[in-house]
Amino acid sequence: MRFFLAGISSWALFMLAGCGCMDQYSAAPQQWEKLREERVLAHRELPKLTEDGKIPVVDKAAGSGANVAEEKYQAICASCHGKEGDANTPMAQALKPPPRNFTDAAWQGKVDDAHIAKVIKEGGGAVGLSPTMAPWGGVLTDEEIQLLVKKIRAFKK
Ligand code: HEC
Repeated sequence: MRFFLAGISSWALFMLAGCGCMDQYSAAPQQWEKLREERVLAHRELPKLTEDGKIPVVDKAAGSGANVAEEKYQAICASCHGKEGDANTPMAQALKPPPRNFTDAAWQGKVDDAHIAKVIKEGGGAVGLSPTMAPWGGVLTDEEIQLLVKKIRAFKK
């Protein structure tokens, strides 16, 4: 009987350990997902600390629109149109026609928001401009495009 019990319990142990090992494999996709998230986080720019050395609290209700626009703009538009919207980038100098300089008040006065939104969504080609200005409708939601229109307006000097 004792041997039997010992046999049973070591079998149970073996099974438990076995299941533990298997879990490792079945959990692998989730772990990859976690790793990927960690990588993304690790490559995020660190927030600038406030003057008294605290991590700034992002007011989601108030600031998120501007944050979204800033993030999208710097990620996909700044390489051509410049961080400050002045189209003063190496890429801009290489392109003909050059990307629009958003600080140009004369241009800002000439176009309405609907035009800017259309160019962003459907590309330069849709309004008779250079197709180098690609359509971003597949990447950006209409809401994000509206936020970008505001951002472009804010570059006006
Ligand atoms: C590959 C470089 C490139 C990128 C990236 C790019 N643009 Fe452009 N953009 C251009 C060029 C070139 C023009 C000028 C087209 C012309 O004048 O024919 C332009 C023109 C524009 C115009 C002005 C249209 C007008 O009426 O003159 C707007 C607005 C604009 N881009 C917004 C954006 C936004 C917003 C993004 C990011 C989502 C973006 N662009 C990304 C190259 C780029």
